[in-house]
Amino acid sequence: MFHAQILTLFPEFFESPLSCSIPKRAIEAGIVRVDAIQIRDFATDKHNRVDDTPYGGGPGMLMKPEPVVAAIRRARELHPDTHVVMLTPSGSRFTQAKALEFTGKPGITLLCGRYEGFDERICDYVDEEISLGDYVLSGGEPAAMCVLDAVIRLLPEVLGSPESAVLDSFSEEGILDWPHYTRPEEFEGKKVPEVLLSGNHAAIEKWRHEQARLRTSKRRGARVDHDEK
Ligand SMILES: C[S@@+](CC[C@H](N)C(=O)[O-])C[C@H]1O[C@@H](n2cnc3c(N)ncnc32)[C@H](O)[C@@H]1O
Repeated sequence: MFHAQILTLFPEFFESPLSCSIPKRAIEAGIVRVDAIQIRDFATDKHNRVDDTPYGGGPGMLMKPEPVVAAIRRARELHPDTHVVMLTPSGSRFTQAKALEFTGKPGITLLCGRYEGFDERICDYVDEEISLGDYVLSGGEPAAMCVLDAVIRLLPEVLGSPESAVLDSFSEEGILDWPHYTRPEEFEGKKVPEVLLSGNHAAIEKWRHEQARLRTSKRRGARVDHDEK
């Protein structure tokens, strides 16, 4: 079983996304277990404070090292092999390859920040710093949920059809998914491309790969083979 632990000030944030669809099924099937650890339980003062003002001045508050590091230690005690990931806008960009890499670990611990982020010394206690992208969320919880969701759907036996994960965007060297169509054949004057109705599997395969590369080139400026330009 894959163990996910979430270090957070808002455990309730995860209740709804984990109680529907694929994550719910994966938990019920015993493929993944998710435990939230409340960082505030590790506060050391009588007011249960987890934040404090930054040295040198400036706006906002920072997550204090004592409770956060104590929570990380607790997570490592519970699961000594866990891989501790700090969610921070300054981390390495999260990718499909990273999600796949995480599935090879016995478990992950996702550390969610709030306020203006973490006291820098906390970074010495984590294995990796991950960012969801170049924008700022109000807390690490939505980022942790995205990481968790991306990892869960790649765990063996989670998807009804394992080939859908293999065919997803980014699974092939950063190439986006091709366009998909379902019934009706014509919708408000927009027709399904002829080739998809042809029954010619080789032509369909070729068209899909061409479309995926063209779309990747247009939207990401990534590579496109010469004959498809
Ligand atoms: C308001 S943000 C702190 C932003 C920080 N002052 C900065 O500019 O980098 C609070 C918390 O949200 C989470 N967070 C915000 N944006 C994120 C992103 N793009 N990726 C991952 N975590 C993010 C982090 O856990 C962060 O500690």
